[in-house]
Amino acid sequence: MVSAPRHRGDLTADISEDGLRSDGARTDAAPAENDTAPAGNSAAPAGNDPEPAGNSPEPAEIADLFYALCGRRRDVRGQFTGEPVDDAVLQRILGAAHAAPSVGLSQPWDFVLVRDPGTREAFREHVATERDTFARELSGEDAATFSKIKVEGILESTLSVVVTYDPDRGSPAVLGRHAIADAGLYSVCLAIQNLWLAATAEGLGVGWVSFYREPVLRALLNIPDRVRPVAWLCLGPVTHLERTPDLERHGWRSRLPLEAVVHTERYPDS
Ligand SMILES: Cc1cc2nc3c(=O)[nH]c(=O)nc-3n(C[C@H](O)[C@H](O)[C@H](O)COP(=O)(O)O)c2cc1C
Repeated sequence: MVSAPRHRGDLTADISEDGLRSDGARTDAAPAENDTAPAGNSAAPAGNDPEPAGNSPEPAEIADLFYALCGRRRDVRGQFTGEPVDDAVLQRILGAAHAAPSVGLSQPWDFVLVRDPGTREAFREHVATERDTFARELSGEDAATFSKIKVEGILESTLSVVVTYDPDRGSPAVLGRHAIADAGLYSVCLAIQNLWLAATAEGLGVGWVSFYREPVLRALLNIPDRVRPVAWLCLGPVTHLERTPDLERHGWRSRLPLEAVVHTERYPDS
């Protein structure tokens, strides 16, 4: 189990010290799917029946693993191997996504699994066009830096998961959304984050692609007009996860220190 004391909250910690092998495979020390708290219905991740308390990791161990997982998660573009994703693993990951909190318990997400090479190629071509559109807005050093950055692994990854938002789910009286329409969209983003962390825990990589126009993706996947495609996620086994985000490695932008974004009592004056 967890051996040495670690700095709780050190998100750069190598999770391999915390029970995940550096090749991404889970070891006995990592939380198994049935270590998660029961959600109480079939929406919960598969196989998450409660275990006798004696077999469960201590809260401090769970916390250490969780913080390490948050640090290990990366957006992946260039490290996909294209190997298959085990069906049971995919179900666990989707179950984790479906266990996310949602405004009014509306669960406004859907997950479209896209494996067809023709569909993925068509999307990749569209993304390439949008990449060019963005590139034309750049000049000088930014243009040179961006030209070296890969923004998708659509064909290299094993499959794509397109996550959508249906504002009609649970409507008209979505509890908690009457004043903030975007709360539905926030819920979908939480499902995506659950998916991302679960995939990372399973040793897989995820890459979010947003270089697309919603009408194009709707037409490609038969998504109704009222439904918003929120993310095209590339998913699959990876050679490794980088320790530093790609954009930082390529000099596009650096992560902010925590102190820069935490404020006390009031938002800072502009
Ligand atoms: C809403 C959203 C959209 C994103 N779109 C893209 C994208 O189109 N292409 C890409 O390569 N990365 C995309 N990313 C990944 C970010 O670039 C990445 O999360 C960020 O650089 C930090 O790196 P990390 O996720 O590895 O920590 C997106 C991330 C989010 C949250």
